[in-house]
Amino acid sequence: MTSSQESDFREKVIGESSSPTEPDVLKILCVGRICLDIVQMCEQFPAEDSTQRSIDYRWQRGGNASNTCTVLSLLGQSCEFLACLSADEHVNFMQNDLRKYKIDYSHCPMIEGIGCPTATIILSLNTGTRTIVYHNQNLPELTVKNFEQLNLAEYSWIHFEGRNIDEMLLMIQRIENYNNSLNGTNNHSKKRMPIMISVELESPRSGPRLLDLLSYTDVAFIAKDFAKNQGFNNMKEVIHTIGQDARLRGAIICAWAEEGAIARTPCGTIVQSPAFPPHKVIDTLGAGDTFNAAVLYYLNKSKVELMRKYKDEEANDINKLGDNTIDDSTVVRRSIKQKNICIENLECNRTKFIDEIVLQRAIKFACCIAGAKVGSKGFDCLDKIFNHILQLDFPIH
Ligand code: FRU
Repeated sequence: MTSSQESDFREKVIGESSSPTEPDVLKILCVGRICLDIVQMCEQFPAEDSTQRSIDYRWQRGGNASNTCTVLSLLGQSCEFLACLSADEHVNFMQNDLRKYKIDYSHCPMIEGIGCPTATIILSLNTGTRTIVYHNQNLPELTVKNFEQLNLAEYSWIHFEGRNIDEMLLMIQRIENYNNSLNGTNNHSKKRMPIMISVELESPRSGPRLLDLLSYTDVAFIAKDFAKNQGFNNMKEVIHTIGQDARLRGAIICAWAEEGAIARTPCGTIVQSPAFPPHKVIDTLGAGDTFNAAVLYYLNKSKVELMRKYKDEEANDINKLGDNTIDDSTVVRRSIKQKNICIENLECNRTKFIDEIVLQRAIKFACCIAGAKVGSKGFDCLDKIFNHILQLDFPIH
């Protein structure tokens, strides 16, 4: 996105003035992990105990939440990343790369004496697989104390990699307290909005306990790896079974590589999208993180647009009040009251805007973006293709 497009977007979506506690552009925050990915691209997956040459080699910043931020940023979304950063010899590379992609990492705690998690990854051109061998020397997990450093008024959406569940629940509680503090207060003239909460259920290590998080999230991403680990064979099985889970509160979304994606609205309607595969699969590393980022981007934009619309209408009505006769002003007052009820409904039931149209467009958009990603190396292709995809096929309200 060019800087003028970005400022158009800011003006259109967020509005004009700002103060330190009410920033111009609300961010999406991704909470999770960062690691060093050492990526070898091979014609085919090596036989055990063999030696072969790779056709390409690179290092990159990895980790689900970190990749999701990369994609959000390439899509033009202001975002922040929160995770523990190891202060080892790779930290400059990590920080420079976060800066290069304009990802705010200012609240990441720095950990001395424990190395950065590292993944060795083999991409097989033959089959399109990515095989990950992951090592973590036990870098500490983020705690709610770290989370308390944040000014929640800066965010419109907070996305968690589902891990370290007990601390995560405390963080979610803090967000809920913030959201509750908005209800009933007359904050309509300000830019404050309830924060949406999403979680990715992926880590097989965290096991079925991850499903407890369904009670606390507005949007849950069920990753294919997690679903397979829980014994599901396809995405329909996932959506129908988890869709009946009594703990479920919001929308659920499940992407399944070349089969596309399926999702269920908070009201229970199921929507689907095919995959949009490239001519040749080049690099599937981070495809799921890309899909998640594109859904977050789309849903967040829909939410912000809708709330903005209500608030603009309300401001217009208040202006009208000034120069109306007594009868007219009674009508205007009634209309303001109704709109206040609308905004409050949205603040109380903040998943309401995720209806089947919005959710279907969001997953289709995400399948297009993830399809483009797997057709080229890394993530950098995305900023070029996304405007085209978004503007042609995906109106936002
Ligand atoms: C891709 C990824 C890689 C990382 C691994 C961690 O989704 O985040 O960047 O090495 O998964 O599980």
